[in-house]
Amino acid sequence: MTGLGAEESRGVGLLRSNDGHLGASLKIWHPFTNSALEPDLIFVERAEGVWLHTRDGRKILDAVSSWWVNLHGHGNWRIAAAIAEQARKMEHVILAGFTHEPAEKLAKGLQRWLARELTHLFFSDDGSTAIEVALKLGVQYFSNLGRPEKREIVALEHGYHGDTAGAMSVSDDSPFTAPFRSMRYVVHRVPSAYLYRRPAGTTKEEYLDFCVKRLESLLEEKSASIACLILEPLLQGAGGMIVYPAEYLRAARELCTRHDVLLIADEVLTGFGRTGKMFACDLAGVVPDLMCLSKGITGGFLPMGVTVCTDRVEQAFRSENPMHTFYHGHSYTGNALACAAANASLQIFEDEAVFDRIAGIAKIHGERLSRFAEYAVVGEARQIGTIGAIELKAEDAGYLSAMRPKLYQFFLERGVLLRPLGNVVYVLPPYVISAEELHWVYDVIEEALETVM
Ligand SMILES: Cc1ncc(COP(=O)(O)O)c(C=O)c1O
Repeated sequence: MTGLGAEESRGVGLLRSNDGHLGASLKIWHPFTNSALEPDLIFVERAEGVWLHTRDGRKILDAVSSWWVNLHGHGNWRIAAAIAEQARKMEHVILAGFTHEPAEKLAKGLQRWLARELTHLFFSDDGSTAIEVALKLGVQYFSNLGRPEKREIVALEHGYHGDTAGAMSVSDDSPFTAPFRSMRYVVHRVPSAYLYRRPAGTTKEEYLDFCVKRLESLLEEKSASIACLILEPLLQGAGGMIVYPAEYLRAARELCTRHDVLLIADEVLTGFGRTGKMFACDLAGVVPDLMCLSKGITGGFLPMGVTVCTDRVEQAFRSENPMHTFYHGHSYTGNALACAAANASLQIFEDEAVFDRIAGIAKIHGERLSRFAEYAVVGEARQIGTIGAIELKAEDAGYLSAMRPKLYQFFLERGVLLRPLGNVVYVLPPYVISAEELHWVYDVIEEALETVM
């Protein structure tokens, strides 16, 4: 050992070696986890279909698709084989100035599902970076056109777009963002059409109309300085699985067009069939100017983000002026293994009855959610496609509701992974879940409402 002794090390601060710590382990700091409050970690050894198999011999049903990423089940052999085959050929190469077959194939594969107005694809690493790319493209678009004053951003109440600084800025205030006020830039915030939480005495129609009018008056007044509006189409996920009417999305599209504001659709959660169509925008018949994709894009195997945009957007960057270049790129941009996984996942959509599975899940959600009206503790049960949610009445409604840890623990003890968003319990399973398994998840939720509430 050559490290300094305790005396000698005084004064060298961080240069101190790890002598004296032999045997101490480097501990993993888990995401969204406070080790003082949630000390017990579950060690997963393998995963297959909807099941997580733990080291201590338990089976846990993954009813949240491991943070909404898994589509075709854990351990899908087709995706696993595609990654292995690609790894033997080429793992990763720089994408600046180079391209490769898996990336080109993915562009073609996605094009088949996207509105034809969306013509260009920019790779990044995850949902948050796909959002950062969209916001930066939106701002630089107007700068390149000689209108740098058009640089402000509009976002929705209850929105969530990720944890990096820009994505946090456009996300609504929440316990997740509270310590970072100084790091978040200012955005215009408009109400989302969260009809269940509309003011007392207003009808749903009146509140929807109010929300549209608020956006309309903001854009009428300030569009000279606004570059883009970002929203999660039809479903605000982490904000509480809030489903809002397609009329709002269509009105937002129309208002953005009228006021020359770019519409960014954050389909990070809603993409790849979650809402019943490939993309939530398809359900509303809306084409955004920019669309962010991630999570399910690789079927839940590898991280990848993608921002797609229209030709009009990209054209503003095609210029003799080097200052018009989009100087943005992450090291692993367009990773060949992630592209291979994404291509295999899209092939599964082509070859297998994925939309029948999706329709089957949606039907069971509908049947089971209708039963929750009987529970006094239930405020609203709502659904969009493969996502079912139950908002419970709570004095302390919100992510930090005391209901959350109690319910989470109860579900785990029964063998189901569900992570309530505070007082909102939701079910968002991989598409391969069987009818029997999904019914069982709902049986467990009913039992929880009867016993722990
Ligand atoms: C709608 C939405 N956008 C963006 C993100 C951020 O994605 P990531 O966690 O991959 O950075 C999320 C994550 O939950 C999300 O739900």
